[in-house]
Amino acid sequence: MKNVYAHALLLISVSLFTQIGHKREQASDTLICLKDNYEDVSLGRLQTFPKLMEEIQKINEDVGIVLLNRHAINITMNWLCNLNALNDPTIISKILVFAMDDESYQKLTYLWPRLRVFKLDLPSVSQPFKVGHCQYQLFQLLRANLATIFSMMNKSFWMLQPDTYWSENLFDLLDFSENDGTNLYLDVEGETILSSRMIAGGNFFVRASIESSLFFHQLSAEIREKYATDNNVMGAMCSRQYADVQCEFIPYHTISNWRWKNNNIKPALMQFDSLILPGSKGKLER
Ligand SMILES: *[C@@H]1O[C@H](CO)[C@@H](O)[C@H](O)[C@H]1NC(C)=O
Ligand SMILES: *[C@@H]1O[C@H](CO)[C@@H](O)[C@H](O)[C@H]1NC(C)=O
Repeated sequence: MKNVYAHALLLISVSLFTQIGHKREQASDTLICLKDNYEDVSLGRLQTFPKLMEEIQKINEDVGIVLLNRHAINITMNWLCNLNALNDPTIISKILVFAMDDESYQKLTYLWPRLRVFKLDLPSVSQPFKVGHCQYQLFQLLRANLATIFSMMNKSFWMLQPDTYWSENLFDLLDFSENDGTNLYLDVEGETILSSRMIAGGNFFVRASIESSLFFHQLSAEIREKYATDNNVMGAMCSRQYADVQCEFIPYHTISNWRWKNNNIKPALMQFDSLILPGSKGKLER
């Protein structure tokens, strides 16, 4: 009798736990998956790509880094055509694409022979990304680890996302020649008091420095341990000035997103991030 009672109690608490704990469960699945796959995108692993360090060493100007897998190939092609249409050949020459599977590498090098494409064969990040899921967290870890390496090698860079429409050349919009001590220039979510200080994390500039290297190294460590997206972690680290890092926000009219409402002003860039409205078109259609 006692056993049956205990069993029933256990069932009730299990079903309660499943309801309440659904999100937590996904979080812990993700963390386990991260742990299992972390080596695939770790700093140590990246350093084993023989040509990677050479490729980074060769860079002698500010580059725009894009990470790509075969699921994002169409939106990336669309973006490259967008950049090409700006009629400034220097733009494409500043882009460095990391292709994370053979298919995207082949397509890009075939269709864009002038484009710098580096193949980083990483099976764990060649699946479609979904925010909050393991692949997405791994992608964020890879991004943070690459940022660490670039900064450590004294290479300043833009981290870019191809789901962004450019109406102007981003490389010319902000002048970083004067070093005023700012390490990171970050895009923001909106124009209100709150959202103008909330990091979007789609397109941002990193000035190579010890502070920036420490920042991204720590970002990677925090993403690995927590169930969080990199923009939120970056926001928290900027506000507590981790390792004395100086963060600056890029005005929303320079890099905006799909929530932009002012029809009289055309933002220089517009990112089509989280399109989760019911019945909304996909990013590419937009
Ligand atoms: C890319 O576009 C082509 C042509 O419209 C389509 O056949 C293909 O399925 C698309 N690929 C992806 C990954 O969406
Ligand atoms: C880092 O790069 C900058 C700009 O490219 C250069 O002026 C500087 O001398 C470099 N610093 C070191 C320590 O190599």
